[in-house]
Amino acid sequence: MKAHVNRIHLAYTDSGKGQPLVFLHAFPLSQLMWEPQVETLSKQYRVITIDLRGHGESDTFLWNFTLEDYAKDVYELLRHLNVQQATFIGLSMGGYVLFAYYRLFPNMVKTLVLADTRAQADNEEGKAGRLAMAQTAYKEGSATIADMMIPKLLSAKTVEHREDLVKQVRSMILNNHSPGIVVDLMAMAARPDSTSLLSKITCPTLIIVGENDVATPPSESHYMAERISQATLVAIPDAGHLSNLEQPDAFNQALESFL
Ligand code: MLT
Repeated sequence: MKAHVNRIHLAYTDSGKGQPLVFLHAFPLSQLMWEPQVETLSKQYRVITIDLRGHGESDTFLWNFTLEDYAKDVYELLRHLNVQQATFIGLSMGGYVLFAYYRLFPNMVKTLVLADTRAQADNEEGKAGRLAMAQTAYKEGSATIADMMIPKLLSAKTVEHREDLVKQVRSMILNNHSPGIVVDLMAMAARPDSTSLLSKITCPTLIIVGENDVATPPSESHYMAERISQATLVAIPDAGHLSNLEQPDAFNQALESFL
């Protein structure tokens, strides 16, 4: 489905009935990464997934957007769907967008799930890496970005033994246009540090991390859990960065017991 909000077309899915759960995807993927969660959780909850601007079937622009712009799209879409308060689940870049969302619209957040993400901004080396990757995205397109990202997104074991999952992740990346990837990289490089926000997060928060996550290692999750007053941390064995796809049952179980 698509909605025209904030002057752009945003693709989303809205399935099931009950308490709303809103899922925000990672870089450089799309809402398709939440399929195992939609399938299970929509039996009991209203599950909304969104292609953030520049991803999947949503409109893509080449402009200097920030992660706050992504958060405002989410807000406008939820108004359009008549959702007042929700549980928000963000994985990695989705988590960065949630920090922006919480800064802007704290009253809309009933509970938070921060998966495989971090509160710190990029350091200088990290920013330089984003710029270099943006050049690669322009010059070589999303196929090269997929080659670079897959070993960061999935654990070595998954890359070696789960051809199906590797293919699925690759196809999500190939489906994104280079300008969208570049805008993500610049927006992530410019994002503010959210460490001082952590002590201001007052809602119940679940923090999930794949034990083998190399992109946002478990130490980042412990850091957040120590500073958010009502935080619970769940580490998922045998999972890398995309813990929801690598171990969907464990991820869903963590979510269900939190909810
Ligand atoms: C993601 O999965 O969204 C990215 O790894 C985030 C990042 O590059 O910082």
